[in-house]
Amino acid sequence: MKPVLSPTAEDPEWRIRGMESRDQGRVFEIERGCFPSAWTHTVLAQVIATPHMRTFVVEEGEVVQGFVIVGTEAGVVHIWNLAVAQEARRRGLGTALLSRVLHLARLERFKTVALSVREGNLGAQLAYRRAGFRAINIRHLGYGDEDAYEMRLDLDPGGASASASA
Ligand SMILES: CC(C)(COP(=O)(O)OP(=O)(O)OC[C@H]1O[C@@H](n2cnc3c(N)ncnc32)[C@H](O)[C@@H]1OP(=O)(O)O)[C@@H](O)C(=O)NCCC(=O)NCCS
Repeated sequence: MKPVLSPTAEDPEWRIRGMESRDQGRVFEIERGCFPSAWTHTVLAQVIATPHMRTFVVEEGEVVQGFVIVGTEAGVVHIWNLAVAQEARRRGLGTALLSRVLHLARLERFKTVALSVREGNLGAQLAYRRAGFRAINIRHLGYGDEDAYEMRLDLDPGGASASASA
């Protein structure tokens, strides 16, 4: 599959493409390394196969280093899962995946992108905040005892105000 977002001159090593079934093992490995209650292989396979889910991976060379899974419902794009392998963090890959999602959301004229993130997950909150998301609510969403922030980005139809820098 062709890359769907080209790297910038400053980031010549990565590319983003649609997730394929061959990526499942690596995606599962990244997922397990990130989340205490990681999705199982079966759930992941179902998610990848669900038609209204959009799934992307970011590769450095031949190595998948991160992924994002989004769904759409009632005019809102929901980010269900975003993760970058521990060893590849803080190199802009998470931001690049977010940028891809925001780009698609704008192209397809969605007005809002939403997600929830554990209260204690400050790194992710900061990454989302930097991409333009703001916390709008805090709720118990089933992450054990921990609450979660609901974060949201309202997209400017002109596309100028909320772009993440990839
Ligand atoms: C959240 C996550 C996807 C970010 O990926 P990443 O590739 O490291 O993100 P980026 O390199 O694009 O970082 C963008 C900005 O976010 C902020 N940020 C990201 N991680 C951070 C951390 N651990 N501490 C503080 N700030 C952080 C910084 O402002 C960073 O910019 P900088 O590196 O120039 O300071 C990654 O940390 C991850 O996979 N975490 C585990 C899974 C997870 O929590 N996913 C989100 C579930 S809702």
